[in-house]
Amino acid sequence: MTPLLAVEDIHTAYGLSRVLFGVSLEIAAGECVCLLGRNGVGKTTTMRSIMGLTPPSRGRVLWQGRDIAGWAPHRVARTGIGFVPEDRRIFAELTVWENLDVAGRAAGRRSRWTVEAVFELFPVLRALRDRRGGFLSGGEQQMLTIARTLMGNPDLLLLDEPSEGLAPLVVETLRVKIGELKTQGLTILLAEQGVDFSLALADRVYVLEKGAIRFSGAAAELRADKALLHRLLSF
Ligand SMILES: Nc1ncnc2c1ncn2[C@@H]1O[C@H](COP(=O)(O)OP(=O)(O)O)[C@@H](O)[C@H]1O
Ligand SMILES: [Mg+2]
Repeated sequence: MTPLLAVEDIHTAYGLSRVLFGVSLEIAAGECVCLLGRNGVGKTTTMRSIMGLTPPSRGRVLWQGRDIAGWAPHRVARTGIGFVPEDRRIFAELTVWENLDVAGRAAGRRSRWTVEAVFELFPVLRALRDRRGGFLSGGEQQMLTIARTLMGNPDLLLLDEPSEGLAPLVVETLRVKIGELKTQGLTILLAEQGVDFSLALADRVYVLEKGAIRFSGAAAELRADKALLHRLLSF
């Protein structure tokens, strides 16, 4: 079976600074796959490479079997890949509802995700529908960013460190919500530093170190290997 996404041996650099050295990974439809690794190992760069924000200089990004490496980001998004960046770029001047409405209009294609449907998933956003984005807490902004990306009706959701900088209780809420998306059948690639958070959600895991994959396997396999966890993640 063709994986939904297959990244094949990509090399990516920022100018002369090389960051990824032959990263390969696969995601089947319906899977939740985690890209784990410490700060600075190349998780965000891998996602940026997939999205076309920092195109790889070598290798392929196969989306449903078609090579999309080097496509412009908006074109990648239109094929069905939604990216939730780590810096949560919401419109600070627009209300929660307006942020979602703008995203729905921009998507332009028939979506199973309506404002009402994302309010069902994140009831807290319904309660805050008239509040401006700039006045939300970090956790609320993260939920709005995810909700806004869902409005584009992605077949694959790339989540870049969603738990970063959030209080433990908020992280737990977020974990439950991402779990609900997974249960609904959404395919997810999750970049994380947090081992507990990601292993609770992921079916399979890739561990990145210095721009290369050092481990790939079942989440349970990594969880059981304390020495490997310590070596790769200082956990
Ligand atoms: N825009 C950039 N220009 C130059 N170097 C960058 C840029 N973004 C990230 N890097 C470098 O690339 C490496 C990997 O970064 P990144 O992919 O953000 O890692 P992670 O998401 O795992 O923390 C780091 O050494 C970082 O300093
Ligand atoms: Mg990052």
